[in-house]
Amino acid sequence: MSNERGSWGSNIGFLLAAIGSAVGLGNIWGFPYKMGKSGGFTFLLIYLLLAIFVGFSIMMAELAMGRRTGKGTIGAYKELTSRFKWVGWLAVFAPFVIMSFYSVLGGYCIEYMALNLSNLAFAGAEVKTGADLFGAMLTNPFGCVMFTLLFMIICYLINRGGISGGIEKFNNVGMPALFVMLVIIIIRSLTLPGAVEGLKFMFVPGYAVEAGFIESAPSIGSVMATAGGQMFFSLSLAMGVMITYGSYLGKKENLVKNAAVIVFADTVVALMAGLAVIPAAVATYGPSAALSGPKLLFITLQDVFQTMGSVGSLFGVIFYLLVLVAAISSAISLVEVVVTFFMDRAAAKGKTGSRSRVVLLVCLAIMVEATIVAVDGLGSNGVWVPFQNSLGVVGSFNDCWLDFMDCLSEGLAMPLGALLMSIMVGWEIGSKTVLEEIHQGNSVKWVDGFLTFCLMFVVPLAMAFILGGQIGDYFSTSERSMYGVGYGVGAFVVVAAWLAAFTSPKRKARKGK
Ligand code: PHE
Repeated sequence: MSNERGSWGSNIGFLLAAIGSAVGLGNIWGFPYKMGKSGGFTFLLIYLLLAIFVGFSIMMAELAMGRRTGKGTIGAYKELTSRFKWVGWLAVFAPFVIMSFYSVLGGYCIEYMALNLSNLAFAGAEVKTGADLFGAMLTNPFGCVMFTLLFMIICYLINRGGISGGIEKFNNVGMPALFVMLVIIIIRSLTLPGAVEGLKFMFVPGYAVEAGFIESAPSIGSVMATAGGQMFFSLSLAMGVMITYGSYLGKKENLVKNAAVIVFADTVVALMAGLAVIPAAVATYGPSAALSGPKLLFITLQDVFQTMGSVGSLFGVIFYLLVLVAAISSAISLVEVVVTFFMDRAAAKGKTGSRSRVVLLVCLAIMVEATIVAVDGLGSNGVWVPFQNSLGVVGSFNDCWLDFMDCLSEGLAMPLGALLMSIMVGWEIGSKTVLEEIHQGNSVKWVDGFLTFCLMFVVPLAMAFILGGQIGDYFSTSERSMYGVGYGVGAFVVVAAWLAAFTSPKRKARKGK
């Protein structure tokens, strides 16, 4: 690895950055409410199984792909495979698209933090309810664009500093601070009267149905799709992030241990976020308050803080700062995927790209797409949305621009990318290629069998199922279920990809045919 490309200052620095990427909005609002809605403990169990057998093995494979090639996503795919080169593009496209709404949500956090700060400073002044605040914010496109811009400027300044000088530095301070703030909020949340209802909602199987907050228990297929989609998004997988971060990692570091720590830490923070958010919301407003993502974060919790009086504003500032730190540490990893691609491409052409110029251009491009999402205001401002109400197949996926971008990236590109990646490694180039890399820095033998089996069989099948479920979730309407089509697509992709891998020249060369 050349010095110009940069590298992590230390293994702990790398770990904090990777955990920072994984811990994000997905943990804080996605996990708690999905868990409550999808059967609490059952969801947790399925989530853990998927995290161990699918998440952990993809995490190891991605880190190994990055470190082995010393290149970002596209470069790594180009070097390793002959049939799946284009998957690398998918994993640069998806982070770019995710940033279109992640930056807007980050902007909302800044706005809410500022708001609570001013409530704190001007205690006694009239305060608006969460719903009024949220509505007023969304229908003020100019304000939203400005706060999104502020968020992107923060990302620009960090990414410009490079791997150890920017990303690592931010996470070294940000992650421990996030942990402390989370503990403070958990203590407050769990000591509210009625908090135990929230714990029941999270952990008791079937409680959401029993208490009458959802009509019937979701099917096992839909729980698997929800848990699987959540697990991917939350662990930052199939987005090029772990390949990119792995490419800056030293050869002596232990990839198995690192992958295990990232998966473990992300899951613990998701559960902690649940403890911070759900009991407070449920204690104050009942289980129905816990059921929706953006509403939970920006309406319900804001109201919870306001019922506490001026000390509530202080908790509000801490809470939204915590969410903001989590959002920044994830956003900079997404930006870095795209930046590393351009930097590597310049290096391959023999040029030394200027990092600050590349970062600036990437952030500007993100700002353009983010402006659309910000102006749309979750569909509040009547902006035209692609495919809305056309063809009769579209469902909830495109009620607004955020949903549309989310469907493209999290809904389709992510599971598709993971599915193709596992078949590429498991069947085309062979798990030996990544295992050789993993053995540098680790001598444990059980990984060989575990990883090979997971990448060849477990991951492709699980991913086909998750992809199908995501298509079903995003495209079904009340009149028409798209789950059948979804599973059909999933099965087709598995078979087609497997055939491509099986007949690939790389596989033939490897098998000596
Ligand atoms: N893992 C982040 C979260 O939970 C989001 C993310 C996805 C970040 C993919 C990077 C890559 O919010």
